[in-house]
Amino acid sequence: MESVQPYILGISAFYHDSAACLLRGGEIVAAAQEERFTRRKGDASFPRNSVDFCLGRAGLRADELDYIGFYDKPLLKFERILESYLGVAPRGLRSFLMAGPLWIKEKLFMDRQLRGELDFEGDIFYAEHHESHAASAFFPSPFREAAILTMDGVGEWATTAIGRGSGNDLELLQELHWPDSVGLLYSAFTYYLGFKINFGEYKVMGLAPYGEPRFVQTILDELIDLKEDGSFKLNQRYFSYLTGLTMTNGAFDRLFGGPPRKPETLLTQRDMDLARSVQEVCEEIMLRMARTAHRATGLPDLCMAGGVALNCVGNGRILREGPFERIWIQPAAGDAGGALGVAQLVWQRHLKGARPNGGRDAMKGSYLGPDYSPAEIREYLDSVGAVYERMEPDALVRRTAGLLAEQKVIGWFVGRMEFGPRALGARSILGDPRDSRMQSEMNLKIKFRESFRPFAPSVLRERVQDYFELDVASPYMLLVSPVRDELRHELTEEQDELWGMNRLNVRRSEISAVTHVDYSARVQTVEREINPEYYDLLAAFEERTGCAVLVNTSFNVRGEPIVCTPEDAYRCFMRTGIDHLVLWPFLLSKADQPEWTEEGDWREQVPLD
Ligand SMILES: [Fe+2]
Repeated sequence: MESVQPYILGISAFYHDSAACLLRGGEIVAAAQEERFTRRKGDASFPRNSVDFCLGRAGLRADELDYIGFYDKPLLKFERILESYLGVAPRGLRSFLMAGPLWIKEKLFMDRQLRGELDFEGDIFYAEHHESHAASAFFPSPFREAAILTMDGVGEWATTAIGRGSGNDLELLQELHWPDSVGLLYSAFTYYLGFKINFGEYKVMGLAPYGEPRFVQTILDELIDLKEDGSFKLNQRYFSYLTGLTMTNGAFDRLFGGPPRKPETLLTQRDMDLARSVQEVCEEIMLRMARTAHRATGLPDLCMAGGVALNCVGNGRILREGPFERIWIQPAAGDAGGALGVAQLVWQRHLKGARPNGGRDAMKGSYLGPDYSPAEIREYLDSVGAVYERMEPDALVRRTAGLLAEQKVIGWFVGRMEFGPRALGARSILGDPRDSRMQSEMNLKIKFRESFRPFAPSVLRERVQDYFELDVASPYMLLVSPVRDELRHELTEEQDELWGMNRLNVRRSEISAVTHVDYSARVQTVEREINPEYYDLLAAFEERTGCAVLVNTSFNVRGEPIVCTPEDAYRCFMRTGIDHLVLWPFLLSKADQPEWTEEGDWREQVPLD
């Protein structure tokens, strides 16, 4: 018999970033990405652990689920792959043979596989990939009606979709199809710049402000035929993702004057100029698409998802320069969020369920993952002989604020883990943003990653306008906006003439560690109602220092997924230069801990990202 509030499990798997999400009626009970449990970044295998976590959260067995939703249509995707390869055979044969058996095994028999994995006899729904993205963008948003824009690399055929959401339904009005994809254009440059596709896109975005946009015209003249409405055609002469195992080809190399950069080699000014150029083209496409979505729907609000919606510089420009009054972006904008989207489609569209959020954001701050009781944390800490102090909330917050003010770096582990790629103050590493050395120090000693990678600020919601040119909430750290003029430091003539990375060490503002070289910042606003412990810490830091901002970076080292358990957190704390660890309600100091030993060099086990 069907329960009054049906349990719906959404799954995304076998492509990029597997995840599961459980709804009870329209309420999001739990959601998590598989990589956090298996510790394999971007794990695309069946999300066994995520499913178990979601079911466990509700005390359910899989046979007690009412519905399962899968985030894309494997047959459609297979058709696209097959047609793409057949269309270009025999050149495509090599990669077809490599990809083929995998597709056949894992995607064509999805239904059987899902039932087998889950011992589930009920109805399984399949949504189209961009419908899942669109649903993840619209249904949890605070809007009753909104335009929807989804952009990614590719799902089945669609690479971009414009839609309209209203009440408990949504429709896609226009689509752009493979192989014309802004996600793939960006990934091609990610590849060409020597970074890993699907992971290194952030690096391109972070690198862009160091460069000049001197290749924009070349990109527009040669690579992409961009129309006024944002639609475009990619000139396939320069790309090889249809036919080969790489993204770009010899023609691409000749156009930009050389082969792809070898990973881990020195970044040159030209690399930075390329990053800046593709970023500008991407922003232009995003802006034009947003205007088209506005014209197509006539609605004042916009919802976004898909991997391209993680381009927070582009999002910031849509907010500032675009036609919409408000925008809302799904924090798990990539394929993990598809699990949440398809579950919502089952509830809203199929079951005609109510949208329970009633004009409010239904994501619960994206704190949808596992949490751990003090007893569980203590048990782990005792098992490794860790030295810790249990503290009352007020005292813990005040002590931590004091340590931050002394330039200590803090591992901060509180409550339920975030769903989506950003750490939002549940699994974060925190620092003092006023210290200009903090950026390179945290990059090199704690994250073991490139020194140019920018850090992002968290700020008290009510103080955001005092620091940034932003007057709306940005709870998911998906909007980039300028640091206010009066906080900026005037550059000396000498500093102004510095090129590329040399600009990194210049003190650019009062909150230098989170001010990018172009005076921008990727802002997270924090509200007490949504994350009280983190809010109180920011408030205590402000009380002590007058500064309502902290550096917030994800709790992990380079190449590793964000920490999930107390064990992951303690290990990361001990491996790195983090000075103190808060495993709420416990405080640990590095100096007090027993010596940390593990077999081999762990850094060799973590793949470079
Ligand atoms: Fe996608």
